[in-house]
Amino acid sequence: MKKNVFSLNDEIRSIYINPNETLLEVLRDKLGVKSPKCGCDSGDCGACTVLIDGKSVRSCLILAIEVDGSTISTLEGISKDGLSPLQKAFHEHNVFQCGYCAPGMILSATELLKKNPHPSEHDIKEAIAGNLCRCTGYIPVIEAILDFTKKD
Ligand code: FES
Ligand code: FES
Repeated sequence: MKKNVFSLNDEIRSIYINPNETLLEVLRDKLGVKSPKCGCDSGDCGACTVLIDGKSVRSCLILAIEVDGSTISTLEGISKDGLSPLQKAFHEHNVFQCGYCAPGMILSATELLKKNPHPSEHDIKEAIAGNLCRCTGYIPVIEAILDFTKKD
């Protein structure tokens, strides 16, 4: 076991971690952070996406010991003061059905908009390419993000 210290949703967390535990396991099973989902556990679906130092990362593919000293954001952090304006845009466009992909999709969009506040449709497609959705298809996602950028 190794002691790790990192920032999680603006709170400093200190926790003992086994060297073989993934960040996804630690977030969900040890820290009770349930928005990152385990869809495939092999890096294919994007349901486990979190932001590490502002960059979207698949938490099923990274060992928790690697995030020592990092800043991690999940959907819980982004929405702790209520729905963010981006989440409201997704809601207005009825983007999700089951919602399993939602946290990862929203975090990928958050990363994109931070880097590029006025992305093209192509930019959006590239940004969410790693986030699979079985329910709605991707057109409402793209429309919601484009609509959000127009309100800026
Ligand atoms: S659960 Fe991590 S990419 Fe699917
Ligand atoms: S809304 Fe169900 S997987 Fe995306």
